[in-house]
Amino acid sequence: MDIDLNKSYTASDVEAPTGVNIELTEICNVKCKHCYNPWRDESMGMYELNVFKVKKIIQKLSEIGVFHVILSGGEPLSNYDILKKAMSLLKEHKMTFSMNTNLILANDKNMSELRELGLEHCLTSIPSIDADENDEIMQSKGTLKKILNGIKACIKNDIRVSANMVVTKSNKHRVYETGKMMAELGCTKFFVTRAVPPIYSAVAKDSDNDVHEELILSHEDVKKSLDDAIKIKEEYGIAIGSLISYPLCFLEDLQKYSDFAGRGCPSQRGGIVNINSSGDLHTCVHEEETYGNIFKHSLKEIYQTTMKKWRDGSMHYDGCKGCEYLQVCHSGCQMTANAVNGKTASKDPLFKGYDAITNHFDLISDNKIFDYINSKGKFFVPERVRFRDDQKVMLVNARWGNYITVSKDVGAFLQKAYSEKLEFDIHSFGLDRKEFLANLFFKDVIESVEKLDISKVITGLSYDSMYLPKNIKKNI
Ligand SMILES: C[S@@+](CC[C@H](N)C(=O)[O-])C[C@H]1O[C@@H](n2cnc3c(N)ncnc32)[C@H](O)[C@@H]1O
Ligand code: SF4
Ligand code: SF4
Repeated sequence: MDIDLNKSYTASDVEAPTGVNIELTEICNVKCKHCYNPWRDESMGMYELNVFKVKKIIQKLSEIGVFHVILSGGEPLSNYDILKKAMSLLKEHKMTFSMNTNLILANDKNMSELRELGLEHCLTSIPSIDADENDEIMQSKGTLKKILNGIKACIKNDIRVSANMVVTKSNKHRVYETGKMMAELGCTKFFVTRAVPPIYSAVAKDSDNDVHEELILSHEDVKKSLDDAIKIKEEYGIAIGSLISYPLCFLEDLQKYSDFAGRGCPSQRGGIVNINSSGDLHTCVHEEETYGNIFKHSLKEIYQTTMKKWRDGSMHYDGCKGCEYLQVCHSGCQMTANAVNGKTASKDPLFKGYDAITNHFDLISDNKIFDYINSKGKFFVPERVRFRDDQKVMLVNARWGNYITVSKDVGAFLQKAYSEKLEFDIHSFGLDRKEFLANLFFKDVIESVEKLDISKVITGLSYDSMYLPKNIKKNI
């Protein structure tokens, strides 16, 4: 088999979205000060999806081979009947799904119903573990207790919970305590997310609006929030990460900050797009620009034309030219850069430049895998793996929204092993491809036939090994 590891694939080779964020409703039961949804003040409650519309959307997503859907809002639990309908339709169409929610309306009864419908994972907002501060940020009373009860209701019903703390000047001193509480409650993952200044704050940033100022943290404060998260991981074993990418050069030591290094910008990487509750299409959830409407236009066509600027390098900042990590990092978060500089393809405020990187990625977290590979250990492709043929490349989805892009050869090899339930070893895969095989193992695309004492961190979206710099690939 000829596996072309040196060929570089770009996100432009992906033909349709792999994951979609659907905002089921504009309505939200609280009003977080940092919330990006720019429609909140103007049209609160005007748009909500109904059964007919949700059916139509899911049918269209199924037709273009979307793997994973995030049901979001506003607050999706405020549109409960439609939320349930969406879940049963997604299950019917064999798409995996998760829900982004503040969990304020969650209780034992509704979480048990949603679990029955196949809900396995929720991402909850948790602004602060201090009750007054939480109320102040969410601009509502008694919010913390309700969120904590919501988390307990999920866990009781076997729904995994990840907690997302958007870190601003108001709550930056609470990262450690908040993460500790999330770990103690049994959450699977704690996200420490920098705030993307909402469009409405950016537009008003030269006037009397102080939201913008509140949201942009200094380099030191951002690093401190990441260090606090690492401390929680070390002490309590909870997985950590961020929903908004950091420029890799800001992280400097990519080993130490590897939990925050992998994800990159999901929109530039070629994965996720957003459908809001009127059906309007955006690439990023933070984006104001609309590219069309799902009820009137073809998402695949839009993805390959007007939305393509997100994936063809047009959003890259000039100062990133020559950086080996460009296809992973994509110049950090260009929605933050837009809010700060008034334009995209500009400098992320956390940018430091390629030379700032002091320590590189190490993809293989446990070298024991090579002992197994060298002893002709067998592998197989588990049933949960899904494939999509995008003509120039093959997408292989390990689970949820987590996929990698591989050459057609590798894709065909894996798909054959999958459909014919074949076991294979390094000899059939290619003796000179040991590192690549180890990568597939750590990406959870393949499993070992023998049970190995090697732990993989399986937490959803992370780096796509195809886009890593060539020399890093060779060094693994
Ligand atoms: C807009 S909310 C919608 C779903 C639900 N109401 C919730 O709070 O999870 C989706 C996610 O975006 C995050 N978020 C909101 N505003 C943000 C901002 N300005 N920057 C980064 N993340 C933000 C929230 O914390 C939440 O995890
Ligand atoms: S709960 Fe979610 S949608 Fe509602 S205001 Fe907060 S971040 Fe925005
Ligand atoms: S130089 Fe640009 S692409 Fe490279 S790590 Fe920094 S922000 Fe990312």
